[in-house]
Amino acid sequence: MLHETQAFGGKTVVVAGGAGFVGSHLCDALLARGDRVICVDSYLTGFPANVLPLHNHPAFTMIEQDICDEIAIDEKVDQIYNLACPASPPQYQADPIHTMMTSVSGTGNLLRLAERDGASLLQASTSEVYGDPEVHPQREDYWGHVNCTGPRACYDEGKRAAEALCFDSLRAGKVDARVVRIFNTYGPRMQPSDGRIVSNLIVQALRNEPLTIYGSGEQTRSFCYISDLLDGLTRLMNVQPNPGVPVNVGNPGEFTVAELADLVQSMVPTRSTLIHMPLPADDPQRRRPDITRARQLLGWEPKIQLTEGLEHTIAWFRHILSNHPPRRNIKRPRLDIARPASVAPGASSWR
Ligand SMILES: NC(=O)c1ccc[n+]([C@@H]2O[C@H](COP(=O)([O-])OP(=O)(O)OC[C@H]3O[C@@H](n4cnc5c(N)ncnc54)[C@H](O)[C@@H]3O)[C@@H](O)[C@H]2O)c1
Repeated sequence: MLHETQAFGGKTVVVAGGAGFVGSHLCDALLARGDRVICVDSYLTGFPANVLPLHNHPAFTMIEQDICDEIAIDEKVDQIYNLACPASPPQYQADPIHTMMTSVSGTGNLLRLAERDGASLLQASTSEVYGDPEVHPQREDYWGHVNCTGPRACYDEGKRAAEALCFDSLRAGKVDARVVRIFNTYGPRMQPSDGRIVSNLIVQALRNEPLTIYGSGEQTRSFCYISDLLDGLTRLMNVQPNPGVPVNVGNPGEFTVAELADLVQSMVPTRSTLIHMPLPADDPQRRRPDITRARQLLGWEPKIQLTEGLEHTIAWFRHILSNHPPRRNIKRPRLDIARPASVAPGASSWR
């Protein structure tokens, strides 16, 4: 294990995508340990409500903007977390060109900001860089099996390009860039219509609607609870020296989608049955991180078991669904909130 910097608090930290599911929890955690936090978010898939309680915090600043636009921050920045990117297929496929440009132009803009101030940058990459993997479990030295022309390419290839930008910036001595490959993460502040597997199943169960299984349900996923992910992100950002390689952060417990649906049905009193739908194009068949590298470099290990994490997540959805009556035929994510004109539906941005 490498030496970990102890001086955690007191830094000025930019969290791009800080109004989203992961980002808002990260803003909370950084403020709690004494950092100054500048959240940059366009609210494309994030929500003002996620950061509303932080607006009264003296060390918190919200900048509502798209990271594809030039990022003007006057004060000196110490660390940048780049979490800005839609994360579920319906959300990132709603404007695929903008999704790709978010990973490329947006990450490029943040790398320039990091270079200006000598800041460290942590890029949130994804298990999707492995595509539909031929190697199992997925180790970081596996180069992946990605369809570069399919409907998921805007996300998968965008994240791969962002990784390349980060490692080129690191090799060129411009930015202390670090890359985390996040596997499926769940927890409170996920949204009912975000199109992710855990939220879909819980919301359907709570509403007594049929639980949707895509394909046979035999495809596998691993599920990491949000607090474990945050621990991994902050360790990777602060570990010294920079590992210089991507690091998987995810829970190596592997479940079929059918097993997850069974578990949700057993935890939510529900009249829901199962309904099978066709498998989406390029849907990965197996997903499980090899976390040897995270263990060795970061001393990181997930702590929260799936049933415990689901209990907290079900409680969250119970709470928000009591304030949101059921909506029928939800096909698209809620992308209309403070959406910049440049990414209005049908108006892809090439910035
Ligand atoms: N949650 C997971 O399971 C998971 C898995 C793998 C990777 N990741 C990555 O982690 C990051 C955070 O994911 P999340 O689950 O919190 O998703 P999220 O959609 O809840 O959060 C993403 C945030 O980024 C903002 N955003 C998107 N595009 C933007 C742009 N161009 N400019 C400014 N802000 C923009 C959104 O408004 C949102 O607040 C993403 O980069 C995602 O790819 C997440």
